Amino acid sequence: MIQVKMKLMTAGTAVLLTACTPEPERADKAADVQTPSDHVLDTHSASTPDEAYITHLDLDLSVDMSGRTISGKASYDIVNLGRGRIVFDTRGLSILEVKDAHGKLLKHTLGDSTFLGRPLMVEIGPEVERLSIAYRTGAESDALQWLSPQQTGGKEHPFLFTQGQAILTRTWIPIQDSPGIRITYTAHVQAPSELMVVMSATNTTTRSANGEYNFRMEQRIPPYLIALAVGDIEYRNIGARTGVYAEPNLVDKAAKEFEDMERMVVAAEELYGPYRWERYDVIVLPPSFPFGGMENPMLTFATPTIIAGDGSLTALIAHELAHSWSGNLVTNATWDDFWLNEGFTVYFEKRICEKVYGKDYAEMLAVLGRQELTRTLHDLKEAGQDADTRLKLDLAGRNPDDGMTDVAYEKGYAFLTLLEAATGREKFDAFLRGYFETFAFKSMTTEKFMAYLKQELLDPADVTLDLDAWVYQTGLPANAPVVASRRFALVDTAIVRWSSGVPAKELATADWTAFEWMHFLRGLPAGITTQRMAELDKTFGFTASGNSEIAFTWFERCIANHYEHAYPALAEFLIHVGRRKFLTPLYTALASTENGMLVARTIYKQARPNYHSVSTRTIDEVLGWQKMTEPVTM
Ligand code: BES
Ligand code: ZN
Repeated sequence: MIQVKMKLMTAGTAVLLTACTPEPERADKAADVQTPSDHVLDTHSASTPDEAYITHLDLDLSVDMSGRTISGKASYDIVNLGRGRIVFDTRGLSILEVKDAHGKLLKHTLGDSTFLGRPLMVEIGPEVERLSIAYRTGAESDALQWLSPQQTGGKEHPFLFTQGQAILTRTWIPIQDSPGIRITYTAHVQAPSELMVVMSATNTTTRSANGEYNFRMEQRIPPYLIALAVGDIEYRNIGARTGVYAEPNLVDKAAKEFEDMERMVVAAEELYGPYRWERYDVIVLPPSFPFGGMENPMLTFATPTIIAGDGSLTALIAHELAHSWSGNLVTNATWDDFWLNEGFTVYFEKRICEKVYGKDYAEMLAVLGRQELTRTLHDLKEAGQDADTRLKLDLAGRNPDDGMTDVAYEKGYAFLTLLEAATGREKFDAFLRGYFETFAFKSMTTEKFMAYLKQELLDPADVTLDLDAWVYQTGLPANAPVVASRRFALVDTAIVRWSSGVPAKELATADWTAFEWMHFLRGLPAGITTQRMAELDKTFGFTASGNSEIAFTWFERCIANHYEHAYPALAEFLIHVGRRKFLTPLYTALASTENGMLVARTIYKQARPNYHSVSTRTIDEVLGWQKMTEPVTM
């Protein structure tokens, strides 16, 4: 079952690269980039880095908010290995023309369309080191979500944001869309003058007068981290290196909510070395953003559903910040290695939280995470997808999104806590610091990490950890560290008391945080009567909770117990929020009964136009939507 990725390059081609290295002033730059022998086979990209690969991108784009298109030119510096062509990934793009640096047209063809898009093959002579592609996005440009004014907080201006991970950057930029490719980029973006433009790059804090913005990303990043947002956006400062962008109605609230951000950056640096991206800012997007957060470098994209008013959900910021090391600095080489991004980040996130908020907090996070893992392992097994419970995935032929489950996050986390327990925190931290330092701005495969781990941290003769079972086999190995939380023990007592008939108002809940409420709601027994659901709701106000995690967990209980009194609020939540992590379990739970399916489809019909393609792709499947609407849409 062990997938060892084939190296595309041989020693011979590496020599060829040296021979081709152009004029001296470029030599430094070329020496600094990933060498072709670093590229491993990525089944989710049509690009062929053994023929030619990009090292730098200059975007010159214009954003048409009413026409809902981005158009312009992408120019690339390339390393040309003299094979006569370069291959880009595209999907849903109109390619207008391809030229070399002298303006000479280059012959190009688009290959057949698959779920990966259409490869763009460009013929290049051995002298070509730079080329440009004029293009336009289209209706199938799934990275883009265009929001009408009605779908924003301010209700006055349209909004646009992009989501690149995993394989969506190719839907708004022709690119070699593999996480094993690394590029620097600049962008010149023209937008309507009343809107502000930000990117995963250097940003201004004030609006330009004419809607023109310039960006630089001087660190080499994988293409899935290129990101853009356009809207009625304002900036507020938080700390020396930190700040927040959001719509005017939310920006002050967001700045207050994220007041610990600077301390998080300091804590992260103390743990695993210098922050290498100059600034750490966050943009809070409209509620249709399909994720909790996305670690776009220099500018995390975040859902407004973490703004609870009391800072209780900001562990998500610690998570996205941690990706500045695990993911953005050391990057999974392919989506089969996704756990290297997320498992490390979950571990790192909890260490940051422990430093900033204390051990109780980190313990509660760990227990909540383990509960999610247990549920996911069970669900995947039930669905006959046990193979996806391996850390090292095999996603060939499938959308990599399918592999993006709690396994990578929480089994990955459990594995790293096992390593920490086995070697001691001090040694393990030094190992991780060395790992980030050694492989900074490089990509990493599971195999390479395991070799490094054995070489640097573990006694190679020691087989007691059962490393291969952790990485290459299904399920959770028996030596997984036990997670426990002191504070949750008190919640468990409350659950037992309430279950035995004690009225809700007599429970000792006064000092509970959002995590304790989540644990309480998850731990409630099955088959609660309508009367007792109403008692809970009346006492604790769950249906009207302004905390999205509490509301979500409560709605799950409502569906399970057929507590339909909460359904209007549930419907409103589903229509307003596009965060897939909330949508999938709620729609799935509704869809499990005949009547619930009807309710779900009615809500979805209204909600679907508010969702990003990432979310509709999943929920369409849950509700059999495509099948249902096929005769209409065809
Ligand atoms: N990088 C992920 C989001 C992602 C994963 C986007 C896979 C596309 C494909 C991000 O860092 C993330 O993990 N977000 C989580 C929050 C986190 C606290 C677990 C989310 O969005 O819920
Ligand atoms: Zn993450």
